[in-house]
Amino acid sequence: MKNKDLLQISKDFGSPVYVYDSEKIVAQYKRLTNAFKQVKKVKINYAVKALSNISILKLLTKCGSGLDTVSIQEVKLGLRTGIAPEKIIFTPNGVSIQEIEEAVKLGVQINIDNLSVLEKFGTIHPKVPVCIRINPHVMAGGNTNISVGHIDSKFGISIHQMPHLLRIVENTGMNINGIHMHTGSDILDVEVFLYASEILFEAAENFKNLEFIDFGSGFKVPYHENDIETNIEEFGKKLSKRFNEFCKKYGKELTLSFEPGKFLVSESGYFLVKVNSVKQTTSTVFAQVDSGFNHFIRPMFYGSKHEVINISHPTKHKRFYSVVGYICETDTFANNKRIAEISEGDILAFKNAGAYCFSMASNYNSRFRPAEVLWHNGEAKLIRKRETFEDLIANQVEIEL
Ligand SMILES: Cc1ncc(COP(=O)(O)O)c(C=O)c1O
Repeated sequence: MKNKDLLQISKDFGSPVYVYDSEKIVAQYKRLTNAFKQVKKVKINYAVKALSNISILKLLTKCGSGLDTVSIQEVKLGLRTGIAPEKIIFTPNGVSIQEIEEAVKLGVQINIDNLSVLEKFGTIHPKVPVCIRINPHVMAGGNTNISVGHIDSKFGISIHQMPHLLRIVENTGMNINGIHMHTGSDILDVEVFLYASEILFEAAENFKNLEFIDFGSGFKVPYHENDIETNIEEFGKKLSKRFNEFCKKYGKELTLSFEPGKFLVSESGYFLVKVNSVKQTTSTVFAQVDSGFNHFIRPMFYGSKHEVINISHPTKHKRFYSVVGYICETDTFANNKRIAEISEGDILAFKNAGAYCFSMASNYNSRFRPAEVLWHNGEAKLIRKRETFEDLIANQVEIEL
């Protein structure tokens, strides 16, 4: 998107505001499917948690994507798009058996990552096809919060518990139609993926009725110029070759599945904020903006570094700033960054604001959550209204005291 389009959106819809470029999302979807064109059956299930606005889900399902969901609410959001339930996979962790049963009633593919749940579920529903999430014990991911396939992780059934797993499957007569792993986000090295995939192939040989193997996600997208990114084309070539070899050995054309969040939506997103004041202290120049980590938590939560540009005056000479929010705690978006000289009232744009940004926003400090706008075919379309005071108190029950 061009700076002038973003600026116009901030004028028309106010700030702070999230903007998503639909063209980028569609291009990423095509890039991913293209990387695996050597495999006959490929299925992409977009990870709803990354950005769950229903218009984004519709855009992706229109491209042919399925949906990867982790809560019954995400399942229901997905179904609102009109997608067939069997195109949704439900991969919860630590939820009640009742929530899984609700998902069964809605007709979605169930993915189980816990032996005790598997045993309970298989006893009650031996006929319902189930996918199994394996923990391959691989350390992968950009930081500890998003590394989920290692030995200390709460996710998945340990690869070392395979004998127990098989005993449950045999005794309940369950139909295991898929096998899955997801080892983390922001995985830097394709070789780590390939190594974990070999573990999954080995595990897959234990099941005779598989229809798909789901390799999860974790593709690293670039956050700035020359940043490392997953070489999806190279990975596509290597994994496709191994997948086709495996299918031959297995004796069946299986579906290769992925469930990317970041890869599809991260780079499509911009978070626009307005500078309320420029405050010079003895050590730093702070640009104080009309938002906080309640809206955009990744820098504080993960230490993630989002590029920030002054779209009001992009060509002014660059100076060093710390961009901070208005939350009454340390609330730093960017530290010691070179940004084109900032004046009060300027609009700043944070890049890579598509994934895990709005979807993690809250009302902390009793602030309204921002609006969301989709830039589609050269037009800005409001896809979520900015909250109002009424939204803030809608579910509060005032009692007489
Ligand atoms: C089970 C599962 N699948 C897919 C994803 C999407 O990962 P990413 O956004 O790195 O593509 C996640 C993210 O945490 C996840 O937990």
